[in-house]
Amino acid sequence: MKKFVIIRSKIKKFKNKIEVSGDKSISIRCVLLASQAIGRSKIFNLLESEDVINSLNSIKKLGINYRKIKNYFYIYGHGINGFKTSKIIRLNAGNSGTFARLILGLLVNSKNKIIIRGDKSLSSRDFSRVVEPLRKFGPNISHINKTLPVEIIGTNYLRPIEYIEKLGSAQCKSAVMLAALKTPGLTRIKAKKSRNHTELLFKNIGIKINVKKKLNYDFIEIKGESNFKGFEYYVPGDISSCSFFIVLTLLAKNSELIIKNININNTRTGIIKILNKMNAKIKFKNKKKYKGESIADIVIKSKKNLKAINCPKELNSSAIDEFLIIFLIAAKAKGVSTFHALSELNKKESPRLNIAIKFLKMIGIKVIRKKDDIKIFGNPNLDLKGDFLVKNYNKDHRVLMMSCVAALTLGGKWKIYDADSSNTSFPKFFDTMKKLGAKIS
Ligand code: S3P
Repeated sequence: MKKFVIIRSKIKKFKNKIEVSGDKSISIRCVLLASQAIGRSKIFNLLESEDVINSLNSIKKLGINYRKIKNYFYIYGHGINGFKTSKIIRLNAGNSGTFARLILGLLVNSKNKIIIRGDKSLSSRDFSRVVEPLRKFGPNISHINKTLPVEIIGTNYLRPIEYIEKLGSAQCKSAVMLAALKTPGLTRIKAKKSRNHTELLFKNIGIKINVKKKLNYDFIEIKGESNFKGFEYYVPGDISSCSFFIVLTLLAKNSELIIKNININNTRTGIIKILNKMNAKIKFKNKKKYKGESIADIVIKSKKNLKAINCPKELNSSAIDEFLIIFLIAAKAKGVSTFHALSELNKKESPRLNIAIKFLKMIGIKVIRKKDDIKIFGNPNLDLKGDFLVKNYNKDHRVLMMSCVAALTLGGKWKIYDADSSNTSFPKFFDTMKKLGAKIS
């Protein structure tokens, strides 16, 4: 793919049905859990993006084979002690924070040194948030300046821990859950609400887990050292990838879109709740349940009278990957929108809060930031003219996709660099846009 894309015209009216690729969080968890199962797992609709391919390549280096056949992957696990780690192994997590943090949980019993590194963006992100709790299980973990590379040498003498997860980070919670899987005795976790795919997968593939849900925290108990058999799983569509098409449709003229088979797990639908409070009128149809996850088709129509929101911070964690695109709606909504306590946004693939503010100012929107809160002064008449350039954003896939939606709905002539960064989570992004009639060259 070219290094940059050019967009010079707004998308024309469309009425269509699309599918987006498999959920990234669930795909990575399926790869990791299948690597711990006894025997063959069969995973349908696994996302084939760079983050997931780096995950597959890494488990292969740890002695786990996989094969793609037609529309599914076979992954051949050897049980919870089945990684082959008899020599020093170097794993490349690429851009994937989820893989790099979760695999550390599975390496607490490695026999030799494993070194995990990542790309420039991942190498600037905080790893102490997982290293600190994981050290309490007993492995030797070292890194400098709280970042990658991380070196881990596991132990045979793992001990269960009690852990309080206060950030609302599913990655931290899941890394500890995976370490607990290998550890004799009962690991206890008190976790601020965050996405719960690991809990659901544990339950549905036969790993012992006990979850008690309270208002703001979940209490999780895992009795370790229980082997489980290979499993079959169908990965539902990714609401994070879907979010760009939701906003595209809302901001386009007289358009309608149905996006099929999306995971609408309550811990991921913050964007829908937020946009519906802004009068978006997004609907679900054909709802069904699959292995604990809720799946539905999402129905969206263009909307003219979007209104501002004072966004409750309780929705932050279930919309954490969607704020960039939500801010774009706030820019076109009537009134002043306020978002609170967004410090975690600056810890993503790029400092997304800073980048969003710069972007909104570039398109002429007034923004006021006070610490981790922002106010966005919406302009329903926003209609851009002139040239816009998007570059130097750490190749953050979500900045790229948000910029394309802005270019296709707000007007102006856009040059957007690092177009290949969509491969991190959604390699079919541009093809899907073109299917709807977007002119992108
Ligand atoms: C993810 C959790 C979130 C999210 C990330 C994927 C996961 O990160 O931003 O893209 O798969 O668990 P945190 O857990 O750090 O909030």
